[in-house]
Amino acid sequence: MTPATPAPRRILSGVQPSGKLHVGNYFGAVKQHIALQNEAQCFYFIADYHSLTSIHDAKTLREHTRDVALDYLALGLDPEKAIFFRQSDVPEVTELAWILSTVTNMGLLERAVSYKEKVEKGIDASVGLFFYPVLMAADILIYRSHVVPVGKDQVQHIEMTRDMAERFNRTFGPVFPLPDARLDKESKVLGTDGLKMSKSYGNTIDIFAEGNPLKKTVMGIKTDSAPESAPKDPDTSNVFALYSLFATDEEQAELAQRYRAGGMGYGVAKTMLLEKINAYFAPARERRKQLAADSEYVEGVLRSGAQRARAEARKTMALVREAVGMNPESVPLA
Ligand code: TRP
Repeated sequence: MTPATPAPRRILSGVQPSGKLHVGNYFGAVKQHIALQNEAQCFYFIADYHSLTSIHDAKTLREHTRDVALDYLALGLDPEKAIFFRQSDVPEVTELAWILSTVTNMGLLERAVSYKEKVEKGIDASVGLFFYPVLMAADILIYRSHVVPVGKDQVQHIEMTRDMAERFNRTFGPVFPLPDARLDKESKVLGTDGLKMSKSYGNTIDIFAEGNPLKKTVMGIKTDSAPESAPKDPDTSNVFALYSLFATDEEQAELAQRYRAGGMGYGVAKTMLLEKINAYFAPARERRKQLAADSEYVEGVLRSGAQRARAEARKTMALVREAVGMNPESVPLA
């Protein structure tokens, strides 16, 4: 018996425009996003509506959005393959968020861990921040996505999305597939202080930093104070962990051996790491400079991505509006 052809899978993910991408973002998310563009129809967007929960400055939001777009394109996102767009260019998503909110219990949102964490960190507890998971569910459901590659911290949001989709389908009829989270394997990259690399900890290594600033960051990675002569444990060393992201198995084994043998200070390992980072990202840095020089390019890519995304969003919204008892399309302007 020939197996049935699997239904085409739709992959979707969003990234908040929170400034320059770092090595943690790359290995935790961007690298997988780019690899997946060859496997299925991918929708990737810059979540600027979501960023409005923490950025209230038009210039900053615009700059960060452009920066993330340039970073992704320089790192290899191919806008011919993936549909790459700005969330706010498809405003239908906010309409769906409203409709979903009417089948979402307060209790569900009150259990959101990331809301509580953000408020603890000092982000304003706006209604928008509380509502964030509903908008995220709308992002996923409006493109009727099947797979959502995310980091661990976002898995709860995908579970909430499934809850909302189930409840909608039960109430109004089957419109949405239930999406699955796809956990990024390398999602935990250690920062310069040994904690998870994160902008909010100030321990990042930026992908597009170069020269002295990058050198300062890498040489400043915290280590224990074992003397040069002492044998060292690669398995507990964040310099080694970072090096491993860039090195072949052989190179890793070689450095591990030098750690264990003693006679090598951390400075040597850091220098090796710095060389790896530079070599790995050199082509992307070049490409980013070229793309940034053409002021129209990024905008053109995002616009044509949004046109493709919006066509899909409108198809879904026609089904949704019909299902709840509205006109499938809103009335066009005269
Ligand atoms: N909340 C995600 C983050 O901060 C970004 C995001 C918004 C997202 N909408 C999404 C991710 C939809 C996946 C799917 O990382």
